[in-house]
Amino acid sequence: MINVLILGGDGYLGWPTAMYFSSRGYEVTVVDNYFRRNACTELDTAMLYAIPTLIERAKLWYELTGFEIKVVIADLSESESMRRLFDGRLKYQWAINEKYSGLPEILIHYAEQPSAPYSLMDYKHADVTLINNLRVTNNLLWAVKDYSPDTHVIKLGTMGEYGTPNIDIEEGWLDIEHKGRKDTFLYPRQASSLYHTTKIMDTDLMWFGVRMWDLKVTDLMQGPVYGIETDESQIDHRLRTIFNYDEVFGTIVNRFIVQGCVGYPLTVYGGGGQTRGYLNIKDALQCVHKSAESPAKSGELRIFNQIMETFSVNELADTIQRVGLNRGFDVKVSHIENPRKELEEHYYNPVYQGLIDIGVEPHYLTDDVISDMFSIVEQYQDNIRTDVIFRGVKW
Ligand SMILES: NC(=O)c1ccc[n+]([C@@H]2O[C@H](COP(=O)([O-])OP(=O)(O)OC[C@H]3O[C@@H](n4cnc5c(N)ncnc54)[C@H](O)[C@@H]3O)[C@@H](O)[C@H]2O)c1
Repeated sequence: MINVLILGGDGYLGWPTAMYFSSRGYEVTVVDNYFRRNACTELDTAMLYAIPTLIERAKLWYELTGFEIKVVIADLSESESMRRLFDGRLKYQWAINEKYSGLPEILIHYAEQPSAPYSLMDYKHADVTLINNLRVTNNLLWAVKDYSPDTHVIKLGTMGEYGTPNIDIEEGWLDIEHKGRKDTFLYPRQASSLYHTTKIMDTDLMWFGVRMWDLKVTDLMQGPVYGIETDESQIDHRLRTIFNYDEVFGTIVNRFIVQGCVGYPLTVYGGGGQTRGYLNIKDALQCVHKSAESPAKSGELRIFNQIMETFSVNELADTIQRVGLNRGFDVKVSHIENPRKELEEHYYNPVYQGLIDIGVEPHYLTDDVISDMFSIVEQYQDNIRTDVIFRGVKW
């Protein structure tokens, strides 16, 4: 069995990824310290529905499918917690077979503070973001270098690393000709939040590890993900992933569907011409899996732009409003003062071919997909707290 270690396995993407690999016959271990859940409690950002603990979810998954997902609860910003995953000192908090799974062939790194607004709330949250994200990545690099340099590291980056440049966005690298000489460099990066800045620094750390120690890394520049259900969570609603609809942890499509469901006007920031690349949660899992199936080579930092289509905020709002109205929801759209410092009209033309070339088959944001999301969110309508939807974190 191929051994997969998922850092951040309790998260929006981590838990569905664990089930996805587990159901395909991989030996899966998840590690998390509940940072995300604790942050939701601290900030009073309600989730759409309550989520069982990671151990409860792993037990349930085993009861329903017979597949084991081993669980480790640990803070990976502490170097010894990371090193224990590799050096045989590891103890699982939950496993059917408690014997150490051995060194991972594949390591998926999701374990970071993932919110731009969180990173800009104030100096304390900026500090938590910088320290947490960079420490986890640095600890990971050293552990892989020291114990398991053959492990293929799949790291989640973000399209936000590139910002919105006035030229086409390539997949990670740019050929530069300067004074008659040519070379290839990491594509210029210019983030619009401190969270995104940590992701740029992560990429630099990964590139260092690849250049100096011949590590094998795939860095996935992911756009905002939307969706709730995956094939595996359809087995039982208790397997559904964590779903936030607040401004801090909710991604835009997810937030807009919830807003539409309760008649809260869709919060379009400013002019609404901000354009980004998006993908369905099912494709986020596919992308990671296809990357795992065709690994980066030793000494290679392979970068893919992980989006399936682009939309402006206005296009998203109009489509979600139309589908919501057809379903009988009172969906309104409101252009509110933009709390963020960002361009509201800009050029945006990213390349996103690499993942398709390795076999990913996109699910697009169709009316049916939006309608299905409305159906699920509607089941939890009574849980939705309108007071947590928008708090206006400014930068
Ligand atoms: N969801 C998106 O739309 C999106 C878009 C682009 C990039 N990403 C990136 O993908 C990754 C996963 O995103 P997500 O939406 O699943 O976020 P998430 O917050 O739901 O998941 C991250 C998980 O990592 C855990 N974690 C954080 N710090 C940790 C630490 N020190 N030790 C152990 N566990 C820790 C958290 O508790 C959480 O469960 C992140 O790196 C994020 O930056 C996400």
